[in-house]
Amino acid sequence: MLTAAEPAGIEADVLVLGVGSRDGEPCLLADTLPAPVREALAATLAPLGVRGAPDEVARIPAIAGIAATVVVLTGVGDVDSDQPVTEALRRAAGAAMRSLTGGERVVIALPAEPPGALRAVAEGALLGCYRFGRYRTSGPGAPAVALVASPNGDSATAQADARRARILARAVAGTRDLVNTAPRDLYPQSFAPAAADAAAETGVSVSLLDERALTEGGYGGLVGVGQGSARPPRLVRLGYAPPGATSHIALVGKGITFDSGGLSIKPAKAMETMKCDMAGAAAVLHVVLAAEALRLPVRVTGWLALAENMPSGSAQRPSDVITTRDGTTVEVLNTDAEGRLVLADAIAAAREEDPDAVLDIATLTGAQMVALGNRVGAAMGTPKARQELLEAAADADEAFWPMPLPVELKASLKSTVADMANMGERFGGMLVAGIFLQHFAGSTPWTHLDIAGPAFNEGEPHGYTPKGGTGAGVRTLLALLERRAHG
Ligand code: BES
Ligand code: MN
Ligand code: ZN
Repeated sequence: MLTAAEPAGIEADVLVLGVGSRDGEPCLLADTLPAPVREALAATLAPLGVRGAPDEVARIPAIAGIAATVVVLTGVGDVDSDQPVTEALRRAAGAAMRSLTGGERVVIALPAEPPGALRAVAEGALLGCYRFGRYRTSGPGAPAVALVASPNGDSATAQADARRARILARAVAGTRDLVNTAPRDLYPQSFAPAAADAAAETGVSVSLLDERALTEGGYGGLVGVGQGSARPPRLVRLGYAPPGATSHIALVGKGITFDSGGLSIKPAKAMETMKCDMAGAAAVLHVVLAAEALRLPVRVTGWLALAENMPSGSAQRPSDVITTRDGTTVEVLNTDAEGRLVLADAIAAAREEDPDAVLDIATLTGAQMVALGNRVGAAMGTPKARQELLEAAADADEAFWPMPLPVELKASLKSTVADMANMGERFGGMLVAGIFLQHFAGSTPWTHLDIAGPAFNEGEPHGYTPKGGTGAGVRTLLALLERRAHG
């Protein structure tokens, strides 16, 4: 997907070029075009009304000196902004690819500077090619993998960047596919074999606990949440253990394949997006697979806590008391606070193997969206682990923001009958959920990511982000494992 050839001379249907804005004026970011071509094209920007704003994509006929038929100008935004340029380029590449349909031969010539730009452009281009077609009987296909033109495109580092981008994009697309799949088709008993299939012929081992094993093993959270559904729960364990690994990270994902709320049922509107409630588990599956594909020298164990939260005659009731894997008793005051129950079991299971750190990722609370909106995830946990996560997020250009775990909120989780209740104070609901999980993380270095907002895009597509499942967290988790791999 890389070429060191001059982009102007490449025969293609589409040449993608970047336009930034500087002091309110558009500026063509096309250093690799011959000067006369560049100047002629730059002169068309203002008359065309191209401003170089993010998510602005203009499709124009190519001019003399360009071998491609069409030029797609994609906005990079303010070139002097204090936001990372790499992310602006990733989004610009993604927005360009989103505007294209299948069958077009595409060359992307976006800036190769600063360091990391080529990687970002390759990632953005591949992420922008994503389409979810499973339930469509017709419609445009996805554009093919683009050719990215870069002066050092044939160097070994550029080739490695492209390979990494492909693996990363596959992980994000796999996560998006699972999130977008209708809950009729994706449920614990279908998710588990899908995970096993995806791991087949890789170095990732898969084992699973079914409802009997979960009951016998004392996984009261998974059993309690799953008991209202006709489709029983599962706990899937994914193991990647390369020889010589010095670090062992456990990743735990919330995998509620549909969250109706259970007997504490959600209003109809709030249920519409609740197929996304397994986005954490989907991310964990694909991050473990990507770590293996990249042969990262880090031991990674993934835990998928899979259940469907449904109301029925066999559902758990508000005021029921369950016993989680680690022996803690929990009074289930609200069956819609189910994520923390399945995570309690999975975090406990993960800790039994004594990993160096546990990291959970979950669409856990509506309060997360109130606090940080739809595009920023929350990171809580033990201070060092949380800091490491935030540094990884910065490496990956993903938006995560630190959130506290105030001790005083613990009192609100007191139960009159059990060790804890699953619901506490309404204000700071995201933090209360974090405090609940903290009990199960115990003394292990631990990070909790709440991705309720960023996991699912209910709004318009933007940059490399489509409607629906986004793959939030995948890049950050992979970056964290890479940090561990490189010491
Ligand atoms: N899955 C939801 C959280 C959620 C809401 C994710 C919106 C994505 C978008 C979670 O299980 C839930 O229902 N949480 C409750 C907790 C409350 C009952 C303490 C919530 O946030 O309202
Ligand atoms: Mn819920
Ligand atoms: Zn939920």
